[in-house]
Amino acid sequence: MPVPFIDLQRFEADFLTRWAEKSAEISAKTMFVGGPEANRLEQRLMERSSAASVVGCANGTDALQLALRAVGVGAGDVVLLPDATFWATFEAVVNVAAKPVTVDIDMRDLQMDANLLLQAIEKHQPKAVMITHLYGWASARLAEIRSLCREREIPLVEDGAQAFDVEINGDSIFKDAHVATISFYPAKVLGACGDSGAVYCSSEEMGNIIRQLGNHGRSTHYGHTLVGWNSRMGGFDAAYLNLCLDYIDERIESRRKVTARYRDAFEKMGVCHVAPPAGQKENGYLSVALVDPDKRDVVTGHLKEKGIGFGIVYPGSMSNQPGAAGFLHDRIGGEKSDQLSQSVINLPVFAYMRDEEVEEVISVFGEAMKKAGLLK
Ligand SMILES: Cc1ncc(COP(=O)(O)O)c(C=O)c1O
Repeated sequence: MPVPFIDLQRFEADFLTRWAEKSAEISAKTMFVGGPEANRLEQRLMERSSAASVVGCANGTDALQLALRAVGVGAGDVVLLPDATFWATFEAVVNVAAKPVTVDIDMRDLQMDANLLLQAIEKHQPKAVMITHLYGWASARLAEIRSLCREREIPLVEDGAQAFDVEINGDSIFKDAHVATISFYPAKVLGACGDSGAVYCSSEEMGNIIRQLGNHGRSTHYGHTLVGWNSRMGGFDAAYLNLCLDYIDERIESRRKVTARYRDAFEKMGVCHVAPPAGQKENGYLSVALVDPDKRDVVTGHLKEKGIGFGIVYPGSMSNQPGAAGFLHDRIGGEKSDQLSQSVINLPVFAYMRDEEVEEVISVFGEAMKKAGLLK
């Protein structure tokens, strides 16, 4: 039985009817940019996260650039970021004319290594630090990283594109963030009907600056006290996200069930399937298996043969991307990020994946590992 890597069409029974009604209303009222749906969404995201302010924007990459601008990063400033992340984290630094320095990860949680972060801070005295909550969980040392940055008065920008509804000790991951961002790209845990994103802020003042930067630096309609750009959220995206939020608990619970089942099955088989740190509740964004890099092609070849979708998130570290060449200011470690990119395989996880699909993935992945000589 083929199983796709992701299926975005597992809508709840009444979802598409509700969406058709909502789309008609938005069209009739021409609520195409911002508007009541965007305001309602921001309010709901604020309540869900306990952030002081949430500002919707055009996409997760803009959210990062808005956050960097809001904490004062500009031309020539050094910004630290993890070597294992999506390219947008690196791009955001370059796009605000700052200098990126990559920092390696800790293989236990696949997030930025807190010891190397300290070394990088001492070496570079950065203007800001960025971390990414990769795969749907966070660093086991997140509290420590936040305190370190606070003590040194270095703004910490958290790329939470993949971290919607991740919980740490029962609280939203965004609750204690100085500033964090999210992407609502359709394939995310909470995905829109196009591109959009948001910034979670620890103060209303920061939220106001971000809102202004994302709306041409406006103070009045034709009065501009800042140079920003247009990164406003669309009305359809906001309405679609509001509708998805009505079902999000069930969607996330079904994802968490899949990753938990994989973990249980793979642990028994002796396959390395990475778990979130203690005290954290993942959102089931991605499943992360690590295999011997020399045998990965055999494993993925078998998955392909049997119609099982998979991802390689991500196939290269930031410092090794061809586009990094003219911009990379320094690289602190990087061997672990390379190791991750050479050994990672992401198995299918999406909302409402059926039990028989999950069992099929487990069985075919087991066969693939045997074929590669990685399991008896
Ligand atoms: C870690 C990370 N950062 C940033 C982004 C960028 O978000 P967007 O595609 O909405 O611009 C993504 C999206 O894939 C991401 O996964």
